[in-house]
Amino acid sequence: MTLAHWAKALREHWGIEAELTRLDGEYDLNFLATGQDGQGYILKAMRPGCKEWLVDMQVKALEHIQECQPDLPCPRVIASLSRRSLLTLPDEDGQNRLVWLLNKLPGRCYAKAEPKSNMLIHEIGQTLGGTAKALTDFHHEGLERDFKWDLMRAGWITAQLSCIKDPARHAILEEISAEFLKLEPALAELSKQAIHNDANDYNIMVAGELNEPRRVSGLIDLGDMCAAPRICDLAIAAAYIVLDHPAPEAALASLVAGYHEAYPLTTAEVDMVWKLLRMRLAVSVVNSTLMAAENPDDPYVTVSQAPAWRFLESNTLHGGLLNARLRAACGLPVVEGADRVVAWLKQENGSFAPLMGEDLADAPMGTLSVEESTWPQNPFHLPFEEAAKVGEEFEDNGRIWLGYYHEPRLIYTDPAFRKGPWKASNRRTVHLAVDAFAPAGKAMFAPLRGTVFVAEYRKGHLDYGGVIILRHETPDGDSFYTLYGHLDPEFLTRLKPGDVVEKGEEFCRLGDPSQNGGWAPHVHFQLALTTEGIEADWPGVGDPDEMYLWRALCPNPAALLNLPEEKVLFQPTCKEEVLSERRSHFGGNLSLTYKDPVMLVRGWKHHLFDEWGRPYLDAYNNVPHVGHAHPRIQAVAADQLKRMNSNTRYLHPAQTAFAKKVLSKLPDQFEVCFFVNSGTEANELALRLARAHTGAKGMVTPDHGYHGNTTGAISISAYKFNKPGGTGQADWVELVEVADDYRGSFRRDDLDRAKKYAGLIDPAIARLQERGHGVAGFIAETFPSVGGQIIPPKGYLGAVYQKIRAAGGVCIADEVQTGLGRLGDFYFGFEHQGALPDIVVLGKPIGNGHPLGVLVTTKEVAESFDNGIEFFSTFGGSTLSCRIGKEVLDIVDDEGLQENARIQGKRLFEGLKELEQKYACVGDVRGMGLFLGLELINLDGSQATEICSYVKNRMRDHRILIGSEGPKDNTLKIRPPMTIDSDDTDMIVKILDNILQEVEAV
Ligand SMILES: Cc1ncc(COP(=O)(O)O)c(C=O)c1O
Repeated sequence: MTLAHWAKALREHWGIEAELTRLDGEYDLNFLATGQDGQGYILKAMRPGCKEWLVDMQVKALEHIQECQPDLPCPRVIASLSRRSLLTLPDEDGQNRLVWLLNKLPGRCYAKAEPKSNMLIHEIGQTLGGTAKALTDFHHEGLERDFKWDLMRAGWITAQLSCIKDPARHAILEEISAEFLKLEPALAELSKQAIHNDANDYNIMVAGELNEPRRVSGLIDLGDMCAAPRICDLAIAAAYIVLDHPAPEAALASLVAGYHEAYPLTTAEVDMVWKLLRMRLAVSVVNSTLMAAENPDDPYVTVSQAPAWRFLESNTLHGGLLNARLRAACGLPVVEGADRVVAWLKQENGSFAPLMGEDLADAPMGTLSVEESTWPQNPFHLPFEEAAKVGEEFEDNGRIWLGYYHEPRLIYTDPAFRKGPWKASNRRTVHLAVDAFAPAGKAMFAPLRGTVFVAEYRKGHLDYGGVIILRHETPDGDSFYTLYGHLDPEFLTRLKPGDVVEKGEEFCRLGDPSQNGGWAPHVHFQLALTTEGIEADWPGVGDPDEMYLWRALCPNPAALLNLPEEKVLFQPTCKEEVLSERRSHFGGNLSLTYKDPVMLVRGWKHHLFDEWGRPYLDAYNNVPHVGHAHPRIQAVAADQLKRMNSNTRYLHPAQTAFAKKVLSKLPDQFEVCFFVNSGTEANELALRLARAHTGAKGMVTPDHGYHGNTTGAISISAYKFNKPGGTGQADWVELVEVADDYRGSFRRDDLDRAKKYAGLIDPAIARLQERGHGVAGFIAETFPSVGGQIIPPKGYLGAVYQKIRAAGGVCIADEVQTGLGRLGDFYFGFEHQGALPDIVVLGKPIGNGHPLGVLVTTKEVAESFDNGIEFFSTFGGSTLSCRIGKEVLDIVDDEGLQENARIQGKRLFEGLKELEQKYACVGDVRGMGLFLGLELINLDGSQATEICSYVKNRMRDHRILIGSEGPKDNTLKIRPPMTIDSDDTDMIVKILDNILQEVEAV
């Protein structure tokens, strides 16, 4: 009834015919009205007795915003036919209510929006800043209200803290209130203006589905507006943004920077954010505790406090460092006087005493960067012997050489440098100092007068050893600090905190590896503009995604070395430049994975690293079968290239050694190998062999298969020729349905499905024979991979082979994806199928990145091909290829990688199966060993291409590389190097779990 009543009101007073649905609202009636044209409105009928000033204030504020900043995503007030914004209308009970109408804004509330990226949070800051700016000249008597949500009056909680019984929680709130009390005078000094005052996560709307960019589409509900310093508005939004955020400090920085962009803040205001946001959370928890006491039966009140308590109790953020971070994010001096110090250092460049006792202008630079250096071999473990040799290639008879500032390095391998639980979690890689490498014992001289702030010996392996921090002052009285690490601790007998070191005074010496943490002798020379939050324990390297903070806090110290900044400043290759050059010089159909492509410059086992040293878990690439950068492959390649590298026209024992190793993995009937350069070339050759052996031309192959990129290989790759723009199907090729028992014609509940799928071969054979092509053979990826990681029902391939052979054809197993132990239980896929092919094709993984393909066949087939015409592939079977190929197969055996694939594959499979139970969008989990697929579906069971793309890109955001396959590109393909371990398989499942949760949310 109510709906009809208010629909009538809408029709009569606004002339809008609409369908109404009731929205949440405790006392007020709120309706979503959908007009006949699809236009949405929010009709608000306030509770009887609602104060008119309260609604009038909101209406006027919205009209004000609309007039001066129409681009802001705030709702518009829609005037009635009588041109009034606010009407008084009776409800069904005859009680008068204030009624007004707003347009409906698109999107969902921020609380339910995913992902909550820093870009989105930045935009929230901009929107909030823009709105506050628009409201600067808005005045209304209602703004001067006296209520508990005015943060200026938040001190009211102090008298109520006794309601918090838990002593630890009580203490937290005591501390926050005490801080707030100290802040109050400064807060009172700030000018007041109209503010939204309640930008909580339900009052911010976000538009954008799945793969669309997320945009702020609404800032709603101005019902808590009041007059207060604008920083209160920002702090309130901040108090919600940080809750349950995995990196609250980064989120805060984005929010504050966005606000500052729209409505510049002062440093004094920025410094208040942290204390005010904590006070706002304190108000929330005290308020709900008091309410809970009043309404003991309402569990919601307590539940809603939980995130706030989680944040207040667990937070480890340092207020001082956070202020520096927020200031840096806004481009403001990180600490009072920081800008003056930087200017003074620049001005004094050239006048400092030489740190190393000599002019460094001509000292050579040596890079230890991720891109340009190979230190360390294993980016997850730097052994003592290697640390002591880092940079030895730059060593030149004891001459000083310098290491770069701002250089991403992989030598910081200790888990302490990681920012999360996984090997692929963000890690600190970017060097914040300049290094000077010189022989141990080299004396050093203070660049300028300083007071000893720290003089210590830190004995941990790969720590600083002897370390000194000096405090300096500019003539204007601004202070700054310099740090000298990896010293001989002999200075401890002379220096203690508080001692003065004069400019040019010899004050310490370089330590040797037994004294300096185990490193090649050098000094780590770092500048910091404050020690707030870092105290005596400065990070020597920063997270590449946080350099806005670290470059501001610990700027380039070049000036103190009397050097130009550019000399010691490292800049990794710019990804955007590489991307644009690639676009200029490469064909457009050379595809790039991910909306934000990755540039990868180093690898180790199943991890890859980008130019900034960000680690990625490689869950996709089967080419580095035994792992990226395997030392044995490196050694074999280097060794062979030192000797010679030639072709199969000459004898070399490596050729036969490789052939024997390959054949040892196959049934006895396989006796002959052909070495080529790729899977494509091997398949192309397989076609020739099949034709030579049978004298026929026709080929049967499953739909949506892939066998390579040459003309012949494409002709048997429906995945390519059937794509729009493809060459189409040749008349000598017949396609059969993929034996997909999840989605295909015969499903898992059909016990005869293998036979039924195999039966589809008969008409295909008949059609080839009718057209006079005969049957040269059948080729299939043993387990269709690009078709969507399909495992055909057991026995399928065996039955197909029987039919093909009966028609005179040859059976070709393309084991490029499935061979070499990847399946765990089987070395080759055809073993699972109980099938024996005539030709086996091997590719990619067998070279571990070196271009190599192998065709293996029987004597009989090989003899048919040997028709007097020479077969020669210049690089196929080169000495180098043969040695690498054999080494790969040896490593699989020596390191037990097939068994690892079985164990880790099972672990992954079980984890993925749990996700299948948990999420409706996971249709199927299938695979074997480390050849796995997860098919994503929409609610109606159709292929969820969009969800798959979203998941793939979000996995990349979480540093996991993964692929997608299938005719509709809706199957996630998990196919990591064979070295993957439990930690990393767990990471895949955990992150996938989080992302699927996001999918359900959006
Ligand atoms: C099953 C299969 N066969 C053959 C090839 C072609 O191999 P290559 O790209 O090394 O020529 C591929 C490549 O993805 C493949 O997946």
